[in-house]
Amino acid sequence: MKEPFRINRRKFLAKAGAGAAVTMVWPFFSSCDSQSSTTAKPELGKDFQPDIDLELKAVQRDLSILSGPKTKVWVYEGKLIKGNKEALQILEGSYVGPVIKVSKGQKVRIRFQNDLPEESIVHWHGMHVPERYDGHPQDVIDSGETYIYEYEVMNRAGTYWFHPHPHGRTGPQVYNGLAGLLLVTDEEEQQLNLPQGEFDLPVVIQDRTFDDNNQLVYLENGQMGRMTGFLGNRILINGRPEQRLNLKAGCKYRLRLLNGSNSRIYKLAWEDGSPVTVFGMDGSLLSAPKELSYLMLGPAKRADVWLDLTNKPEGTELTMKNTSFPLELMSGGMMGNGGMMEGAKSVLPQGSEYPVFTVLANASGSNDYTLPRQLAQPDYIDPSTAGNLNAPRQFTFAMGHMEWTINGRTWETTEVADEEIVKLGSTEVWELINGGGMMDNDDDGGGMMDGHGMMGNGGMMRGDDGMMSGGGMMGNMMQMPHPIHIHQVQFNILERNVTDVDPQLWDAVKDGFVDEGWHDTVLLMPGMSAKVIMQFKDFKGLFVYHCHNLEHEDMGMMRNFKIV
Ligand code: C2O
Ligand code: CU
Ligand code: CU
Repeated sequence: MKEPFRINRRKFLAKAGAGAAVTMVWPFFSSCDSQSSTTAKPELGKDFQPDIDLELKAVQRDLSILSGPKTKVWVYEGKLIKGNKEALQILEGSYVGPVIKVSKGQKVRIRFQNDLPEESIVHWHGMHVPERYDGHPQDVIDSGETYIYEYEVMNRAGTYWFHPHPHGRTGPQVYNGLAGLLLVTDEEEQQLNLPQGEFDLPVVIQDRTFDDNNQLVYLENGQMGRMTGFLGNRILINGRPEQRLNLKAGCKYRLRLLNGSNSRIYKLAWEDGSPVTVFGMDGSLLSAPKELSYLMLGPAKRADVWLDLTNKPEGTELTMKNTSFPLELMSGGMMGNGGMMEGAKSVLPQGSEYPVFTVLANASGSNDYTLPRQLAQPDYIDPSTAGNLNAPRQFTFAMGHMEWTINGRTWETTEVADEEIVKLGSTEVWELINGGGMMDNDDDGGGMMDGHGMMGNGGMMRGDDGMMSGGGMMGNMMQMPHPIHIHQVQFNILERNVTDVDPQLWDAVKDGFVDEGWHDTVLLMPGMSAKVIMQFKDFKGLFVYHCHNLEHEDMGMMRNFKIV
């Protein structure tokens, strides 16, 4: 019975090897094999009384997305075993989802069944859960196996999400369609009169590229695409190509934006110039709504946006667009002109202007939801309680020797360095630094290009080397944004240091960051660093922190930290 899966695994290994550059270590292979003969039915916790019990099956399906042939996608299919039926919402016709709705204090059991042709594991992004339920890459299960999650919801009201987390395959698995939302509510939020039901709307923003046969295309630029991260040539909203939300004039909405893209960054603005009203980020509501001229949303980030259609007539159309910021050259956009790279399809350049979604008020209605001036009580961490406020732990995210590294290291399944060990019960400040090129302390701007050029190192680029002239590509490669995510905690962002950020870039993005509230991911533009403060509470164990550019993560820009 196990045999077919072994074959798949071998195939995958061969492919991973061909991908080069990355040292892929799969120490769990052997343990999987030895376990496979004795695979027991996963045990349900005997003393665990779930309020919500559901099955979540990852499976390949054919879905009608574009006109013509169906698209092969990977989806999570949810089935409620116990709980009120609002707890599970399925987004019809979409590979995105499901939407799981829980309350703080509830006990949740999720029976994850892996029916994909390869290993996977589910991670609950932003959630404060014990080590074994966090979806660590070492907990991957084989095709055909089940993993039981049983945890109490301890998080604040907020928009969380879930996605696969197998090392080296998170990018393609998410890209194939695996991502859902986990919405947490709590008493504090329940006392507010925020939109519910059809007026509380998921808006998952992703970019994809389809081939002529309507099949998803991932990283056809090969190794180059992996270095920069995937950029697609069109935007999908909630897994649909229409990029449209059919809403009702006269109503108010909560838009739960999730940047579910592998590596794309958005700078979102309403086309008519009205402000973007943000009232929640990642793991909390803000203390008060904020009006922005535009909102920066890096990969994995969530934002609650208020939309008021009360004075809009039926037929109103309102577009949320991406507005420009000067990062095109840095993230694969230079391949957008076509022909520069062998086989390259055009992409929507990062930082260019394009529509993201359109709100269409094609019906009328009314509701009396309100956006209060005061939302959540600010309960932020007092910086003076951090043991290391004046000497934060520093983690530098940078390229070194053709690899994406954190403090010079790359991923090892269970390895933890001394500086990655923290104490349960402690409050700490971490300084997350986008360090660009590792070795650019010499002034010739060469950095890692010195001596051994990247071209020499194993055929990253085929054909024309003209584009390398002046080392532009290399310089750009080191100047990449890194959206940094820490598992297990929600943190407060204390400050951003932007002195090394290109002033033109900073100028174009600076009004779009909402740093108040509780976050689990912080977008670091090239040259930027940020200090974040967090508490390690309740659970010991091994957790990961990483760049949420999924291609960077897959290439090893991920490390463990251990709570002892
Ligand atoms: Cu959403 Cu470790 O990731
Ligand atoms: Cu996460
Ligand atoms: Cu990165």
